[in-house]
Amino acid sequence: MRTSYDRALGGDGVPAALLPGPGCRLVAVGAAVPASVLANRHLMAFLDTSDEWITSRTGIEQRRVAPAETSVADLGVRAAETALAAAGLDPGTIDTVIATSSSVDVTFPSVACRVQARLGCPPGPAFDVQAACTGLVYAVGLADALVRAGSARRVLVVGSEIFTRVVDWRDRGTAVLFGDAAGAVVVGPASDPGSEILAVRLGADGHGADALVAGSADPGPMPDPLTPDRPAPARSLGRSVRMNGREVFRFSTQVIERLVRELAAAAEIPLDDLELVVPHQANSRILATAAGRLGLPLDRFVVNLDRYGNTSTASVPLALVEAALAGRCRPGAPIGLVAFGGGLTWGGILLRWGETAVGLDDARLSQRAAAAVPAGIQDAGGTAGE
Ligand code: ACO
Repeated sequence: MRTSYDRALGGDGVPAALLPGPGCRLVAVGAAVPASVLANRHLMAFLDTSDEWITSRTGIEQRRVAPAETSVADLGVRAAETALAAAGLDPGTIDTVIATSSSVDVTFPSVACRVQARLGCPPGPAFDVQAACTGLVYAVGLADALVRAGSARRVLVVGSEIFTRVVDWRDRGTAVLFGDAAGAVVVGPASDPGSEILAVRLGADGHGADALVAGSADPGPMPDPLTPDRPAPARSLGRSVRMNGREVFRFSTQVIERLVRELAAAAEIPLDDLELVVPHQANSRILATAAGRLGLPLDRFVVNLDRYGNTSTASVPLALVEAALAGRCRPGAPIGLVAFGGGLTWGGILLRWGETAVGLDDARLSQRAAAAVPAGIQDAGGTAGE
């Protein structure tokens, strides 16, 4: 059946175009992940599921879970501090903060305002963008436009998620998919012409809104994923994710293919020259199908959802950070960032990789280093291990 978003993808949206100068680039990218690891087998303690089902249908093997006392803003601050430190940037030089989260604990103050204050940034504009899992790409696209227009000089973009407080842990169809993480990107003018955002493509079609919804639900007696034997209501925000998995699967594979083709065409780069695609990490089968539709080898796609699950707005920066730290981002390489999610929304950015500073704050590694914690032992309140 041809749906409304098929029509929008068929050309009703604003086409991607090569962006006019002066250029804009990613100055720094950072990510932060909490220490607690929740492996698939731990979910079997309270969900009728199996490691085999989750791994074979989604590619996810484990996810991280933030401690109860950590907020979305806390995790976002860690990612932002990591990005700023990697670039040696003073927070005082950030004039605009844009945050995005689909798991906010309070509607306002915005995550951006809280991050701005905690970092000590000057009192410039600070606001949140809501575009579900596409939020970070939307926010970077917006930052790019602000910098090109001369309305901002250095924009901090933060995507932070504690999705384990939003999912309904009684629903095996959705609970197994998500995890907690934050990512941050500093966007500023391109001083080096080899390092630049070349094309941006954002879109949405609200006619597909019902396919994927995170909203209020009857909280009921909700198990805590880290301590399933005793309820811990403080962790749950009393919401749930409702999803038409097959519709979302079909939409996602189509939209990745279309975004990558449009971005490459706009930047006048042959598809085969695209060295890396950093996609939203929803499901490994979605990524394999999209790569097949594009005729690109799957190893051009960054995949790290096996270790983190779907971290919504944090997934693209987290995957980009890991790819860069693994040496997969060659200076001068054209790299595509693509995301999709509820709304339905989609967004893509094509950039030429340059001197972008990169940092990862993995609380598990720092915890182990600080206290020589043996593998499998968790932070306070956790039961799961590796
Ligand atoms: N463990 C065991 N069995 C399960 C689980 C589970 N965790 N979840 C569902 N099942 C069962 C169902 O109950 C059903 O059983 P039945 O046949 O007895 O009724 C069976 O598995 C098949 O269920 P489907 O929902 O049809 O499973 P499907 O093969 O479609 O896979 C999935 C589900 C993985 C969600 C798939 O639809 C998908 O990949 N969708 C893409 C959506 C996605 O990845 N969303 C991520 C968030 S959205 C985003 O980030 C944009």
